Amino acid sequence: MILWPLILILCYCIFRYRRRRLYKHASKVIKHQWDLPFIGVSWVYVGSTEKILKEMQDYSKFTSENGGISVSWMGPKLFYTITDPAIAEVVLKNNLEKDDLMRIVHELLGDASIVASVSNWKPRRKISVRAFSPKILSKFVKIFAENSATLAKELDKKAGTGNFKIWPQINAYALDAILESSMGVQINAQLHNNNELQTAVNTTLQMLSERTFRVWYWPDWIYKHTSHFAKLQSHIKIIHDFTNEVIRKKRLLHQVQAKFTDQEELEYNNSLNFLDLLMSLSSGEKAYTDVELREEVLTFVLAGMDTSAVAIGFFLKLMGKYPAVQQKVYNELQEVFGDSDRILEKEDLPKLQYLERAIKETLRLYCSVPFILRRADTDILLPDGTTIPESSSVVISILGMHRSAKNWGTDADCFDPDRFLPDRIKDIHPTAYIPFSFGPRNCVGYQYAMMSIKTASSTILRRHKVVGIPEPTSKPNIKLKYDIMLKDVDGYEIALERRQ
Ligand code: HEM
Repeated sequence: MILWPLILILCYCIFRYRRRRLYKHASKVIKHQWDLPFIGVSWVYVGSTEKILKEMQDYSKFTSENGGISVSWMGPKLFYTITDPAIAEVVLKNNLEKDDLMRIVHELLGDASIVASVSNWKPRRKISVRAFSPKILSKFVKIFAENSATLAKELDKKAGTGNFKIWPQINAYALDAILESSMGVQINAQLHNNNELQTAVNTTLQMLSERTFRVWYWPDWIYKHTSHFAKLQSHIKIIHDFTNEVIRKKRLLHQVQAKFTDQEELEYNNSLNFLDLLMSLSSGEKAYTDVELREEVLTFVLAGMDTSAVAIGFFLKLMGKYPAVQQKVYNELQEVFGDSDRILEKEDLPKLQYLERAIKETLRLYCSVPFILRRADTDILLPDGTTIPESSSVVISILGMHRSAKNWGTDADCFDPDRFLPDRIKDIHPTAYIPFSFGPRNCVGYQYAMMSIKTASSTILRRHKVVGIPEPTSKPNIKLKYDIMLKDVDGYEIALERRQ
């Protein structure tokens, strides 16, 4: 009987000894929660997605109030959490390796650029940057506008019927828009409820999020024997089969392209999407294989779908809570579109300046991606002399940085779109606002996302008024949860009234 405690103590001594350098550095930085042997603070992150987010929010706030850097152990891994913009800048500019934990998306995305090691990421990033050039993106506005028009019309069915959860509609909009622009396929998820692909994508994202916080699911050799893994595989198969089939058809089309007439060539060029672009930009010896194409194009779909949808959801929810802001957005829409019901064109987007500020402020308070991860591949020396030791993990708490009173003033938790007026934002540290991350590995879809969110939000508000219970103060009260992304617990419940 006495043997087991002795074995445990011996294992713990070995555990500590092998990590002695990490423990030494960690002891110089403040920690929030007491960690237990072997499991660290992972006991804190057990429970609902709402509780997990609350813990992470508290932890970020604690970090902000204590110098902007703190440490914690999660299982065998040491995490540095950062909310100080100057430290975040050093990390994000110089440390491009993603944390090992990101490998949990490997089954789905393989070695896609969003998770790849730096050496594999670099050549892929070069190609993606060219695919996201402003000239190419401007062609997608038509796709956003047409899908937004469908969304606004679908919402007619809900107008005047009281409160409803708008998440299924905006999630379907985002999927339709991203599939059309990334692969050139129209599945019309907005018109057909419970689309198989939509369910598979949503369930997969949710299951990946669950795995992140279940330390016992981290080792592949354990996870692969669980029913969670089997279920995940079945959903991933649906996503892969769908994408493989699209790629197969594209390959055939590219083969016959040589025989196109001029008119067919013109039509084809006008309907280009990311998949076509990736195929032509990665030509010759460096041409993407079918698997690489799938990895990259699926990254666009998964990185771009819910991120944009949650931004639209929070924006609409805030419009219901702050009618005066909604009125200002509407006045601007009236100036640009008058009473016409024409669909939005790319030239309209730069004119919607107040709308843009309101969306930016939405993304500050409710950043779709609240945390990003890096691995220290060498020691990182910080401006104050602290060292983040090699092989530790770094969490950049975007949420913490966006809500820090130190970065934004005492009204950091309040909704104020004019914070983004040029005269005011110029005094804010450039890394204090990073919904799309910062540095060489930032979000390549940043402009695409802003165009899509602006188009959908403006199209809805031109047709519908959002009705909510006005918030008594400028600090919005929305219940949040962590589901890989920051989401509203109540599915973005709002009410709509059809405008005359
Ligand atoms: C509101 C919408 C969006 C937000 C808030 C967002 C945010 C982010 C963040 C925080 C990262 C992580 C960067 C890092 O680890 O430092 C990222 C990466 C990425 N995002 Fe987005 N994103 C959005 C929309 C999109 C869209 C629409 C697309 C594509 C159509 C996209 C494609 C990507 C890709 C490919 C990466 C990986 C970049 C790389 O590692 O080279 N994102 N995004």
